[in-house]
Amino acid sequence: MSDRLDGRVAIVTGAASGIGRAIALRMAAEGAVVIAADRNVERLEGLKGEDTMPGQVVHVAGDLTTTDGIDAVVMAAGAHGGADILVNNAGVMDWFLPAGDVDDATWETVMAVNVTAPMRLMRAVLPGMLAQGRGAIVNVASVAGITGAAAGLAYTASKHALVGMTRNTAYFYGPQGVRTNVVCPGGVETHIAEGGAVPRLPWTYERLQANFGRAQRTAQPDEIASLVLWLAGDEAVNVNGAVIASDGGWSAA
Ligand SMILES: NC(=O)c1ccc[n+]([C@@H]2O[C@H](COP(=O)([O-])OP(=O)(O)OC[C@H]3O[C@@H](n4cnc5c(N)ncnc54)[C@H](O)[C@@H]3O)[C@@H](O)[C@H]2O)c1
Repeated sequence: MSDRLDGRVAIVTGAASGIGRAIALRMAAEGAVVIAADRNVERLEGLKGEDTMPGQVVHVAGDLTTTDGIDAVVMAAGAHGGADILVNNAGVMDWFLPAGDVDDATWETVMAVNVTAPMRLMRAVLPGMLAQGRGAIVNVASVAGITGAAAGLAYTASKHALVGMTRNTAYFYGPQGVRTNVVCPGGVETHIAEGGAVPRLPWTYERLQANFGRAQRTAQPDEIASLVLWLAGDEAVNVNGAVIASDGGWSAA
């Protein structure tokens, strides 16, 4: 590992598990102070044994759909001088419910976690990034953010929203030194199946199989983390507003 992120402060949401955990550990290994945010206290505790690296991992337990949860993350970053990097990674799925069957609770939860929390965090960190004339935001969407055949209505809408939020933020703030990009993973081996990843309706499951069958491989979290790390670092200085699939070619099929 190098010291590519030496002196940087990075907020990583959903850092207790899967892709976020891999991002948090890699960023700390590259020298960053990582504000590791997650509502899963037990798994966040488990991350503690892992952070023996040049950087440092600061654990912030809380629900990012609450004001308190967002404030705690922003305060933790502020205590270290403010965020240079924001990775909006926390996300939940939607039981693959289509428009005719989606319930309000599923819609609202998915939107709160996948869309509103990233908006609030971007809004909170932008003033500091603009003041220093430098910042990198990396959002984690999904193949469901660029296709219509990978999830239910709410998840698909939320990830398309995150792609749009990325492009809009990139356009407005790029000239002032803040780069915003979005990564769209295909299938990744994580804990996401624990919530909302089981199809509730047999017919949607059957319908989706035609598309899932085109996915060529399942990725490991570290394979997504390496792309996020590159986008967050100075090597990607000319990359802003990019929507990058990391899906083994699934969305190209
Ligand atoms: N695993 C996949 O196949 C896959 C594919 C495409 C996109 N993604 C996206 O990657 C991101 C990471 O997912 P993952 O696969 O690592 O899943 P994961 O379930 O292993 O990790 C997600 C983490 O987010 C946390 N989280 C969820 N809601 C939260 C909230 N309200 N407040 C705080 N923390 C919260 C969870 O506690 C969990 O630790 C998500 O945005 C997901 O949509 C995953």
